[in-house]
Amino acid sequence: MRNDAELLDHILNHIDQGTTDLGEEDWYEPVQNYSSQSRFDAERRLMRRLPIPFCPVAALPELGSYVARASAGVPIVVVRDLEGTIRAFRNACRHRGMQLAEGSGCTKIFRCTYHGWAYRLDGRLEYVPHENGFPDLDKDSSGLVPVHSVNIQNGLVFITQDEPIGLGALESLPELLTDEQILFDSNESVDDINWKLTAEGTLEGYHIKPTHPESFYPYGYDNLNVVEMQGPNSRVCFPFRRIEKLREAPRENLSLNRMVTLVNRIFPFASITRLSQHYDVTFAEPESPTRTRYFSYKLTMPIPNGAAPAAEDLARAKKDVAFLSDTGNKEDAEVVSKIQAAIGSGANSHYRFGRFESAIGHLHSNLARYLELLENSEHDANEKVDSSAPTL
Ligand code: FES
Ligand SMILES: [Fe+2]
Repeated sequence: MRNDAELLDHILNHIDQGTTDLGEEDWYEPVQNYSSQSRFDAERRLMRRLPIPFCPVAALPELGSYVARASAGVPIVVVRDLEGTIRAFRNACRHRGMQLAEGSGCTKIFRCTYHGWAYRLDGRLEYVPHENGFPDLDKDSSGLVPVHSVNIQNGLVFITQDEPIGLGALESLPELLTDEQILFDSNESVDDINWKLTAEGTLEGYHIKPTHPESFYPYGYDNLNVVEMQGPNSRVCFPFRRIEKLREAPRENLSLNRMVTLVNRIFPFASITRLSQHYDVTFAEPESPTRTRYFSYKLTMPIPNGAAPAAEDLARAKKDVAFLSDTGNKEDAEVVSKIQAAIGSGANSHYRFGRFESAIGHLHSNLARYLELLENSEHDANEKVDSSAPTL
């Protein structure tokens, strides 16, 4: 990916030439892939077999901080244990499966609210009330069940639930968040929309003028974007018109903060957006072909030297969040819900993504590549089971 100085020169060149980044080919995505139950099921199985970002590291600021939510339909709890290690477990008690944590918070121990079994934050089963009722219980092998692996990278906690079929987003991850950013808000929402429609709406600027004539377009350009790929991830840059003031600025240590919006798609379900006054980090949890839950975190811009954010910076960040949710995000949500409603109309067998929309083709082609890897791996596993079955 370009650094900010390189990005500036590339954008100024587009402004001067009246051009935008162009992909090398069109992409045709079957409409069925947005509505079919079997495709949805495969996407969810894929989600369990790739490193998937679960929450920002900034959501676990203290020893004992935890975040619990479903990922690929599986309740998971991620916790910073009392030694500072970030761990991820299946959120189910080893007695009769009750979930041990909900939402987010800070704790010293996970105590099951059903019968009171208690687990240390490293997962060990610590206490069983009236333990004489379980004479055969081996406490050492009855701790919380960890996910396959946890990776902390570029400010995100990635979890891989089961044996991975590849590196996914970690093939090559761009710079994202730093530890100089502080979480100041988070929320959860549900939309009756296929997750891919919402993702697509963030990955091109071809729609800015017609869809956002009064919210974004007055500050930006018509169809002027920089589109970059890194591994299966992508980054789309939407410049503000005020960037032209930087024509003569020294390029050394140049920052484009407040001059561009940068949308990073972290393959395939997450986005990290650098906005004018804050960062938005959103994780999609597909619940059905027509329903998606979103977990969204708002982080400050980087604050050097671990200082607390100044009150006026926080106020600006909150104003930024409010502006987006009252204007552009609403306009995008209206578009995608109308597409969703027309998905079964039969008008299109495929959606067509042109040269301005190459980040969307990149998402779909990588999804297709990984779904094929999944299919091959599941096929091999089935063959193994078949060949080990006794012949009658
Ligand atoms: S289910 Fe957790 S203690 Fe019984
Ligand atoms: Fe939009």
